Amino acid sequence: MREYLPILIVGAIISIFAVAFIIAYAGIKNKKEAIGFDRNVPDGEILRRMLPYAVPHWKSFLLVFAIMAVSIGYDLVSPLIMGNIVELVAGDFPLSALFVRVAIYAALLVVSVLCTYFQSITLQKVGQRILSNLRLDVYTHIQSLSHNQLNQIPVGKLVTRVTNDTNAISMMFTNIFVNMVRNVFMIMGVLVAMLLLNYILTLMVICFIPFLVLFTVIFRKFTRRIFRRVKDATTDINTYLSENLSGIKITQIFNREQVKMQDFLQRSDKLRKAKQEQTFVFGIFRPMVYMIYISSVMCLLYLAGRGVIRNVEFMGQVITSAVLVSFYSYISKFFNPIQTLAEQFNMLQSAFASAEKIFSILDMVPELTDEPDAIELTELKGEIEFKDVWFAYNPGEWVLKGVSFHVYPKQTVAFVGATGSGKTTILSLICRNYDIQKGQILIDGIDIKHIKISCLRRFFGQMLQDVFLFSGTIRSNIVLREESFTDEQIWEACKYVNADHFINRLEGGLDEVVRERGNNFSAGQRQLLSFARTIIHSPAVMILDEATANIDTETEILIQESLEKMKSVGTMLIVAHRLSTIQHADNIILLSHGEIKEQGNHQELLKLRGRYYQLYSLQFEAQQMALKAANAKAARS
Ligand SMILES: Nc1ncnc2c1ncn2[C@@H]1O[C@H](COP(=O)(O)OP(=O)(O)OP(=O)(O)O)[C@@H](O)[C@H]1O
Ligand SMILES: [Mg+2]
Repeated sequence: MREYLPILIVGAIISIFAVAFIIAYAGIKNKKEAIGFDRNVPDGEILRRMLPYAVPHWKSFLLVFAIMAVSIGYDLVSPLIMGNIVELVAGDFPLSALFVRVAIYAALLVVSVLCTYFQSITLQKVGQRILSNLRLDVYTHIQSLSHNQLNQIPVGKLVTRVTNDTNAISMMFTNIFVNMVRNVFMIMGVLVAMLLLNYILTLMVICFIPFLVLFTVIFRKFTRRIFRRVKDATTDINTYLSENLSGIKITQIFNREQVKMQDFLQRSDKLRKAKQEQTFVFGIFRPMVYMIYISSVMCLLYLAGRGVIRNVEFMGQVITSAVLVSFYSYISKFFNPIQTLAEQFNMLQSAFASAEKIFSILDMVPELTDEPDAIELTELKGEIEFKDVWFAYNPGEWVLKGVSFHVYPKQTVAFVGATGSGKTTILSLICRNYDIQKGQILIDGIDIKHIKISCLRRFFGQMLQDVFLFSGTIRSNIVLREESFTDEQIWEACKYVNADHFINRLEGGLDEVVRERGNNFSAGQRQLLSFARTIIHSPAVMILDEATANIDTETEILIQESLEKMKSVGTMLIVAHRLSTIQHADNIILLSHGEIKEQGNHQELLKLRGRYYQLYSLQFEAQQMALKAANAKAARS
């Protein structure tokens, strides 16, 4: 019995570690949270949905598996050759026999290196293609979401979905799956080779497997939680960055750098801690597996060494030095894949978590879709009717309360009212950026829900309150909708809105570079460009929301004149705070808290002596006072 004492000691040490791990795992308070069981989609479902991205590349995968078979073959044969060489060296041998074996070994090594190279090149290529398709799908889907849906997701989160999460899935196919398959075959192959070589020693190695499985299971539970934390912290940082980098100028103006730095530090620390924890867990797991590996090697050397040295049969099996060497090599080839398999399984879980996050975006059913029988309009007269329209951005918080009005073709209608009264909301409902909850909106007598959205928007020229320019050139920003416009047409549009003067002064003219959000142009210039962008299509319905708020008076008068000319072209809906600019409108609608309080033309509303009259008088008085003050100042000087 004393003969086996060393082996019993090894077993006892490993058992102590195993018990310690079980106690550590049992000690976690909230297991459900701790092990990250917060996925709702089953693994099978995730695989089924992700598989179509890999299927088109089946030929490449087949090639990879063929290459893999060769390299597994090498891994299985090389220990045998090694053992053979050692046996040869130990005895009386001709030098030529050694040369032959070394040459075979070297040749196999070269083949193995080549296999590894081609395998990784092929996988990289496939991985990038899968990634690019997935990225495109996610991005395209995000584009199809309604304004309401987009309002609910921070931009940083979307960026993380399109970049980090898609990357994790591409890795899943190329790195994780493929290597998992390789490792599984490797483990089975090595096991068979070992059994054939010496089943008793193989049984000895198998005794270590339960410990390995135990460590792996516990390790998996810990890492799952950590992967999740790393992921959440990354999304958090991205969300924070995308918002705060956009607003960094405001941060500077309000001297908020220190506070923002603290906020960022907090998030950055969260990510650092999660990463550290990840390193810690891996740092425990790897040495543990190594300990089991070393223990098994020690047992091998002890048992097999006795067999070789004493030349005794061990439990009925002869152990030669070749068997000892080959076994030594096989054991490392056996434990390595098991260790990586455990880690890959974790990465797979992490990829599944990414997939689920991507599904959360892909599964958002676009709220605004065409009805099956939605029609395509070939032309639009520009008649708009609101029939008792009720609308709320958030359920229950009505922004429009029973709004009804009628705009006839080619009319100019102005919306006025206090800030937040619902003017912009009305305009965005006409373009069906949101769906209304009650009532009906008719365009040319047809409910807008029955018109194809893209068709509807094609007839509208919208100039929004917040001008957004894309990075590119002046030209690319003006021809945004369709790129078939000639330079003459672009210049004509620019002249129409008086943007030609400032564009002419630019070195690049129409090709002048526009930086992100158009930040190299003044607010007024941006508004003029957006104006040109709107009118170049000669839309049937023009929507102008505070279109001239940032433009100097002189240019504004010129634009007013241009708009007068355009009146004959189509219907025009205008929101303006300066009442002087909308006096000529055919109908003026005064809104208050989402309800229409007054409507009529300028003269009618003045006669009414109501809210419009008050507003107009106030603005008129202010104007007169400013004029008087200016005259007095001029007289003094
Ligand atoms: N995306 C949104 N989500 C939730 N509420 C919104 C949203 N947009 C606007 N609101 C709310 O709807 C109301 C009407 O907003 P709207 O933009 O239509 O006002 P407005 O009349 O155009 O004001 P302004 O003259 O300041 O442009 C406001 O009370 C606002 O808080
Ligand atoms: Mg508005």
